[in-house]
Amino acid sequence: MSSNAAFAKGLEGVTVARTVMSRVDGEKGRLIYRGYEIGALAGHVSFEEVAHLFWKGELPTRAQLDDLKMTMAHARMVPNHVLQIARLLPKETDPMDALRTLVSALGAGHPLKQPDLSSAMMLTAQVPVLLAAFDRHRHGLDFLQPRGDLDHAANYLYMLSGKEPTSVQAKSLGTYLVMLADHSLNASTFAARVIASTWSDLYSCITGAIGALKGPLHGGAPSRVLDMFEAIGKKENAEKWMRDSLARKERLMGFGHRAYKTTDPRAEILRDLAREVCEAEFFALAQHIEETGLRLLHESKPKERIYTNVEFYSSTILHAVGLPKDLYTPTFAVSRMVGWTAHILEQVVDNRLIRPDAEYVGPEPHPAMPLDKR
Ligand code: ACO
Repeated sequence: MSSNAAFAKGLEGVTVARTVMSRVDGEKGRLIYRGYEIGALAGHVSFEEVAHLFWKGELPTRAQLDDLKMTMAHARMVPNHVLQIARLLPKETDPMDALRTLVSALGAGHPLKQPDLSSAMMLTAQVPVLLAAFDRHRHGLDFLQPRGDLDHAANYLYMLSGKEPTSVQAKSLGTYLVMLADHSLNASTFAARVIASTWSDLYSCITGAIGALKGPLHGGAPSRVLDMFEAIGKKENAEKWMRDSLARKERLMGFGHRAYKTTDPRAEILRDLAREVCEAEFFALAQHIEETGLRLLHESKPKERIYTNVEFYSSTILHAVGLPKDLYTPTFAVSRMVGWTAHILEQVVDNRLIRPDAEYVGPEPHPAMPLDKR
């Protein structure tokens, strides 16, 4: 197959979909969710309101919100066979691998059918339940029943710990979930849309998206940001630690973004939230590491426009709400379920199989020698 299109490594600058979901303006540092600036939503609306916006195209009325919350609360019951599979997983399994396995297991009970809104809502409601089930299993604890009186964020924290979260914890996690819900055609959303474009089912799309999110160049960064904070330990060590890391050609986690050529607007909002909810000493260390990292990156990569990305302060919020590091990326998935499902539904409504070209740069055809003559 030949193509006249120019080769773009990493598909940078290539437009492969039209979407009404979200717009990233990387030059101006803007993120728009279906007509709303992220700053107008984060801290002002709940995760469920944002889910309604993505799935139905508008922020809900009070009655619509109550309806959606009830639907999602009822959908939290996970089939027994899936909980049994959670109990069979080795306790040392990475929670992202557990989530991928359990979403796939949920799909085993469903025949192949085109993704629809009710399955999207159900699966979104079930993802935190799956994570909490696995987390309790690995700690030798019994599974908890979901609480219908708690919203998505609060019920997730409750099902993990068995304790009702404080309003600050629930609100902080809710704000985080709002901010991570969608981000145009990022790698995992693209993966989900590619799978949807083959007329596959929702569970397969989400299983693939979870696999893509797991990588440290995408959603796997926030726990590594906290690893970096821990390795640095105190402000005085930051410069040497980061210089050494860059000299070894390592990447500083929480910095840089394919789309943003200025600070990620979500990082600005999360920084303000972290200032409010994190311990003062921890926040001061984080801010010092951010400033040092930016200075060193601009010095060592003067041609690259590398700024703070969403993962940097995500790690501080998830730390503040008491989540263990290995649940940071799965919690990103709890949020991104909304964006993934909204994009999948958008893909199937106006579908064409996504099938790009590759430029063949291998050898020209030559004779295939018989086995004993090679
Ligand atoms: N630390 C050190 N160097 C960096 C960083 C970083 N955080 N980010 C980019 N660079 C350098 C690269 O080494 C490369 O330099 P080189 O050509 O001299 O090797 C140059 O900048 C360009 O890098 P690319 O990978 O081509 O840039 P791209 O735009 O594709 O990268 C990415 C974006 C992958 C996120 C990158 O900035 C990175 O690896 N960041 C660290 C990991 C991270 O924070 N991931 C979370 C991203 S946010 C999200 O997905 C939700």
